[in-house]
Amino acid sequence: MAETRFARIPATLIPGDGIGPEITGAVTAILDAVGSPFEWDVQQGGMAGIAKGGDPLPASLIESIRRTKLALKGPLTTPVGGGFRSVNVRLREEFGLYANLRPVRTMIPGGRYENIDIVLVRENLEGLYVAFEHYIPVGDDPHAVSFSAGVNTRAEGKRIARFAFDYAVRHGRKKVTLVHKANVLKALTGLFLEAGREVAKEYEGRVQVDDRIVDACAMQLVMNPWQFDVIVTTNLFGDILSDELAGLVGGLGMAPGANIGENAAIFEAVHGSAPDIAGKGIANPLALLLAACLMLDHVAKPDLASRIRKGVESALRETQARTPDLGGKASTKQFVDAIVRHVGHA
Ligand code: NAI
Ligand code: MG
Repeated sequence: MAETRFARIPATLIPGDGIGPEITGAVTAILDAVGSPFEWDVQQGGMAGIAKGGDPLPASLIESIRRTKLALKGPLTTPVGGGFRSVNVRLREEFGLYANLRPVRTMIPGGRYENIDIVLVRENLEGLYVAFEHYIPVGDDPHAVSFSAGVNTRAEGKRIARFAFDYAVRHGRKKVTLVHKANVLKALTGLFLEAGREVAKEYEGRVQVDDRIVDACAMQLVMNPWQFDVIVTTNLFGDILSDELAGLVGGLGMAPGANIGENAAIFEAVHGSAPDIAGKGIANPLALLLAACLMLDHVAKPDLASRIRKGVESALRETQARTPDLGGKASTKQFVDAIVRHVGHA
């Protein structure tokens, strides 16, 4: 039963593609069980946007986020190759969402790793994601050569490093690790490292700093993940390492993300639209639910966020409540019902 004890916060809800409508429906049902903190303006995007009005990023969606400055977004499918630029990348650019925060924490005991608690901060606007790329034709092969340029700026390197160190200070974290490939991409990721080290000096005595080459970091995350606290890295490395981090805590179904800018913030799961399981009613809604918890933290409702997280942990202890990706047999609906039961008693 919905109960309202505070003014609802206007926010944009984008159901998205594939499993998107299933998991956004699950998350709004759980939020309703804790008093419906958000007043949703539902907007279509991605393939659903194309189906509705021919545009994967409709003007009404952009206007809605410009007004609410806050969105919860289901995954959006980007057709591989072909005409469309990633809708996710376009949204990040449109609202200058420079910081992508991707925390992972063990919530299911008895998995491959216990006690994982790592926050990855991914630079969200630069690097190879500017997708400044071309083919160079040779003879009769129009795609004989491919060419891509990455862009990193000192200003952005410093801004994202400052975000990571500030996050560490605010959340009582001890260490920030700068992850790069400065031994090979000396200019592109060397500048990122240099900017990060400059910023680290401002936090001397408060937050420790170290750095890793990305390939070594990937290996160490498997061998001894507990050595990491906050990681800050470039756009592409952050994309890859955040999926690896998800794997440490039970898979993509467990990994939330926040895209944060000066004037707007968009919360989403790390995973995509999972076309292989879409419509089957078995998607794990947790990644998006935990993203909604980050959204509650963002709007200064951490008590509500922690109530939901505790409810989730209790529900996860019932093995029969878990979805197939977590080794269980439950449907999305059964999992949601279990979580709703537990948040009610938190
Ligand atoms: P994916 O993340 O959609 O799926 C990878 C694997 O993980 C699949 O086997 C899927 O079934 C499983 N999986 C993902 N989320 C799950 C969940 N909540 N519960 C249970 N299992 C889950 O990645 P994929 O297949 O590479 O991409 C599919 C589409 O999603 C592409 O069009 C891609 O562009 C888009 N995408 C969108 C993102 C976004 O909107 N932020 C992020 C990543 C991909
Ligand atoms: Mg990714």
